[in-house]
Amino acid sequence: MDIRKITDVAAKLGIAFPTAEVYGGYAGFYDWGPVGTELKNNVKRSWWKEFVHASHEVVGLDGSIITNPEVWKASGHVEHFHDPITVCKKCGKRYRADHLIEEATGKSAEGKPPEEMSEAIRKLGVKCPECGGELGDVVLFNLMFSTQVGPYEGSLSYLRPETAQLIFVNFPRLYQIARKRMPLGIAQVGKAFRNEISPRNFLFRLREFEQMEIEFFFDPEDDKCPYYEKVKDYEALVLTAEMQERGEREKAMKVSEAVPDIPGREWVVYWIVRSLEWFEKIGVRKDLLRVREQLPEERAHYSEGTWDVEFYFGSMGWKEIEGIAHRGTYDLRRHSEHAGKPFEAVRSDGTKFTPMVVEPSWGVDRVVLALLFSAYDEDGKRKLFRFRPAVAPYTVAVFPLVSKDGLPEKAWELYMSLLDSGINAVYDEKGSIGRRYRRQDEVGTPWCITVDHQSLEDNTVTIRDRDSMEQVRVPATEVVEWIRKRMKD
Ligand code: ATP
Ligand code: GLY
Repeated sequence: MDIRKITDVAAKLGIAFPTAEVYGGYAGFYDWGPVGTELKNNVKRSWWKEFVHASHEVVGLDGSIITNPEVWKASGHVEHFHDPITVCKKCGKRYRADHLIEEATGKSAEGKPPEEMSEAIRKLGVKCPECGGELGDVVLFNLMFSTQVGPYEGSLSYLRPETAQLIFVNFPRLYQIARKRMPLGIAQVGKAFRNEISPRNFLFRLREFEQMEIEFFFDPEDDKCPYYEKVKDYEALVLTAEMQERGEREKAMKVSEAVPDIPGREWVVYWIVRSLEWFEKIGVRKDLLRVREQLPEERAHYSEGTWDVEFYFGSMGWKEIEGIAHRGTYDLRRHSEHAGKPFEAVRSDGTKFTPMVVEPSWGVDRVVLALLFSAYDEDGKRKLFRFRPAVAPYTVAVFPLVSKDGLPEKAWELYMSLLDSGINAVYDEKGSIGRRYRRQDEVGTPWCITVDHQSLEDNTVTIRDRDSMEQVRVPATEVVEWIRKRMKD
């Protein structure tokens, strides 16, 4: 499917649309409408339930978006968080140099030195995609948005480019609060900002986006995962660095075979598999997911190994929606050096050590985009999203068959009882019943309940299933249980 199609459908249905459209939008920034807000909140809620509530080792944090700028010096972001840029000498437009080379060669150029990229642009004869002008030398551009804090000159700070640093910088306190537990996972969901050179592809490359991240700390001398037996045979489409070097494509294999023998390897496998299981659970199509090991030159400055979970976005090809990075002891060591304070954990025998960390990092917006691609369907006359009940913007819609004869009052009563039970319902009495079904199909509501004249006589209602379009009659008193049971399936 083409990204433009999903972009149009999403704007029309109130999922997400360019911010400040009346002023021509603003590249890299989107606003979320009523349907998209529900969908995105459900994704974040499901993630938190799965990875914080149902993960014994993990606790939550909500760190600030702007923090002491020393954090970004210590983390290496001031020095290293760059993308290569080339400027058209004729029209002045700016481009991600590695992306232009990738488009010309079909091969990733991420992480290559600027001189090598300038040379490649010259040799390949790459010109400005906008006006055909000559492109200038490649230079590095820092992706952090800077801002001035308070009314003072020189009080430069940054909007966080990842949520992760707030976890690292708070490690000493959080470790104490968690009663010195090890391994210890700390999770955070929140906004991140990057001044991307060419934001594009709808929700894929934004300047303001959201992340869901876990920093999972462990003792490198005690790095066994107690759940390893449960994950070691899990199969998925995998593309290792070696396979890429040999020019091979992804193939179905055990994820555990793709991770080399490094400290914490079992935890790396565990987090990849748990991520894939969760994607499947919320309805991201497994056949469109692969795990790709990053090549050494692609890795971020802190990484000792990174595995991306990529989704096949039709016309855009395979693209990262989650990165699982082995950050070693890099971040805690750097903060310890810069702050002049220990960032350590202690073993039962009293010896101290710097914990290692495995970091699964999901982008909320990219996960939502993968869900839109996975769930969209055109079935005869119907255009619909087949969302799983757990993430569908609305779980159920309630309609009176006609808006008279006491049916609206009865339908409203049922609607209220669903809301009281914590089920997200909508009420609609406008237009023909067929139209109302279509409207709910479009936004992916799994069930529609209709109150008709028979309901007044025997207190039963019909429930119509979005996918099969079949209807069953159920006593009104059993509707809540009926829905709850199916939400668990
Ligand atoms: P890319 O190579 O596509 O720029 P990245 O490697 O910079 O991505 P990470 O730094 O690993 O991405 O960030 C972790 C996650 O945050 C990504 O997997 C992605 O889901 C999300 N993310 C990063 N940058 C953006 C962005 N500009 N817009 C939307 N989501 C993003
Ligand atoms: N925390 C990983 C990243 O945003 O790059």
